[in-house]
Amino acid sequence: MIEATPIVEMRNIKKNFGGVRALCGVDLVLKRNEVLGLVGDNAAGKSTLMKILSGAYIPDGGEIFIEGKKTHIASPSDARRIGIEMVYQDLALADNLDVAANVFLGREAASKKLGPISVMDKHYMEQETKRLLDRLKIDISSVRSIVERLSGGQRQAIAIVRATAFNNKVTIMDEPTAALSVAAIRKVIDLINELKAQGNSIIIISHRLEDIYEVSDRMIVLRQGRKVRECPVIGKLDEFREQVVAYIIGARDDFAERGVD
Ligand SMILES: Nc1ncnc2c1ncn2[C@@H]1O[C@H](COP(=O)(O)OP(=O)(O)OP(=O)(O)O)[C@@H](O)[C@H]1O
Ligand SMILES: [Mg+2]
Repeated sequence: MIEATPIVEMRNIKKNFGGVRALCGVDLVLKRNEVLGLVGDNAAGKSTLMKILSGAYIPDGGEIFIEGKKTHIASPSDARRIGIEMVYQDLALADNLDVAANVFLGREAASKKLGPISVMDKHYMEQETKRLLDRLKIDISSVRSIVERLSGGQRQAIAIVRATAFNNKVTIMDEPTAALSVAAIRKVIDLINELKAQGNSIIIISHRLEDIYEVSDRMIVLRQGRKVRECPVIGKLDEFREQVVAYIIGARDDFAERGVD
């Protein structure tokens, strides 16, 4: 069977920061409508690899193909134009603004089309934000709530809504469940499943292997800037936790294509 062209393919990606070799030639494939888990210890290079895909960093070497076409991603706006959005580890929300303003932050083009800033614009943004929250089944009482007063889970949800509001194709989430309550984690997991059901392709970075096992189709393990493992996510975490951790901490290192064994 011929495999469909992946939505994202990164080949031999390299990135140094001064003397630090953050990525030493990493390959990554994201298939269409797949959830890919990206795991690894602190400083493994996970965020750096994803910031290269989202245009925040320029790689020192390697190539990126989007839907089979070689693509230069030189800035976050380049990435956004081709439908790649990243929810950063620190969320990058404007705490003093309300929910609707945050969803439309940096989307001046979308509101400019409606003319100069006016009451109508605000009304449009609020209605649209309500629609987007409903679409992803997110429960926030008012789109006029100031973001700094919301819970960690609600803030994460807003960052995800902002990333996925404008028909993007690829959503990257960096530690979306870190520092959340069990109930809030559940909601983020549901949100990821909902995005997948709506056709999105997703990369999730997480230290929580429970989350990776719950939402991912495949998994890549990075260690010290190299890919040490790539495999389908099958079965229960309980059966595989020790093996996955062994790759994360460097006790194992291989590129076998079968499941973790
Ligand atoms: N802007 C930067 N300037 C200098 N060094 C950086 C920069 N960004 C990342 N690094 C270095 O690159 C390496 C990989 O960092 P990265 O943030 O990608 O790791 P990570 O896998 O996301 O880790 P964590 O799980 O802690 O978030 C680290 O050694 C880090 O210190
Ligand atoms: Mg990181």
